[in-house]
Amino acid sequence: MKTFRVVILAAVLGLLALASAQSQLEIFSWWAGDEGPALQALLDRYNELHPDVNVINATVTGGSGVNARAVLKTRMLGGDPPDSFQVHAGQELIGTWVVADRMENLEDLYKEQGWLEKYPAGLLKLLSNDDGIWSVPVNIHRSNVMWYKPAKIEELGVVVPNSWDEFLAICPDLKAAGVTPLVVGENWTQQHLWESVALGVLGADDWANLWNGSLAFNSDKAQNVWDVFGQVMACTNDDASGLSWQQATDRVISGEAAFNIMGDWAAGYMTTTLELEPGSGFAWAASPGTDGIFLMLSDSFGLPKGVANREAAIDWLKLLGSAEGQDIFNPLKGSIAPHLDSDLSKYNAYLQSAAADWNSNVVAGSLIHGAAAKEAFQSQFGTILEIYLSSGSAQAAANAANAIAQQVGLGQ
Ligand code: GAL
Repeated sequence: MKTFRVVILAAVLGLLALASAQSQLEIFSWWAGDEGPALQALLDRYNELHPDVNVINATVTGGSGVNARAVLKTRMLGGDPPDSFQVHAGQELIGTWVVADRMENLEDLYKEQGWLEKYPAGLLKLLSNDDGIWSVPVNIHRSNVMWYKPAKIEELGVVVPNSWDEFLAICPDLKAAGVTPLVVGENWTQQHLWESVALGVLGADDWANLWNGSLAFNSDKAQNVWDVFGQVMACTNDDASGLSWQQATDRVISGEAAFNIMGDWAAGYMTTTLELEPGSGFAWAASPGTDGIFLMLSDSFGLPKGVANREAAIDWLKLLGSAEGQDIFNPLKGSIAPHLDSDLSKYNAYLQSAAADWNSNVVAGSLIHGAAAKEAFQSQFGTILEIYLSSGSAQAAANAANAIAQQVGLGQ
């Protein structure tokens, strides 16, 4: 009898060990280090709901996914997909892994969870093609934000610029006062600046026309964007290539720089990591010339075909797509929830103002963060920028952009 009990106990323990070895979930993203707390909070909640699942938080450092996308490509092509991975809502996923038939269609999950009524129609459109809906959004970020420290701007005696002309007019005074007028970092942060400059110079309609193919990149209007961009770049720091976006933000907070243009993950960094108060520790405005326009992007997660832990991954998508999950994640991340049942009282003053703008502004899509153009164009934009920076020629950049736009069939 005693031996029998021992055998049963051993069998049960064996089964438990097997079950726990099987219950795993690998989440792949670029939210490492300073970018990690919001994701960690969501994963902690996941673990409360599913204590038997061993969650692997696989991150690849590098702002805006510059390194993560390359690692993901190797894994996807090598037949070793993570159970779920971060990807911007839009063509960044549809133009790559969806056309390659590597993703599961999540339309049934959307229906089952009632999400078709709980997300804005424009966002659903971005996540879909004719064949299905391909990822679940966890947030809405804003790209076109200019950050500053109120005490520093007051000390400098300048007015926060409303247009690029106004910015360029105060640039010499700021330089004379010994501060960097506008701090930028590594290549992708300069692409990020470019999209705010372009939106400010062109306006929302012509910005959209670039992506639907009705405004050519070698038109005078589009070429003019590069001219203005060049003047703005002349007001930035010399050591840009060595700076991460967080280090660029730090320069605003230390007072070495007057302004920075970055997505509102910078607000997440300033509140969650640096513990600054929105409004006093830092302040914000729409980037010059873009008041009334919300340049949006959304981080989402998809479900690759053939993953090792499909059920655990679907539970993950259910949590991150819920109002509860989004209200855990976004107040820490510096983004707002796309879910219409989000509870805004959980969000700080910056995020409440972003939510008000999201609901009232003209919404435009970010190029650099996957919401505006075909992936094949987006991924080559860094090269176009390099052509501009090395040649200093607006015409060379405009021609290169036009050639790539034609090559990839932009707008078709
Ligand atoms: C964006 C992403 C944000 C943030 C940022 C900096 O592309 O959508 O969530 O992570 O990069 O890495």
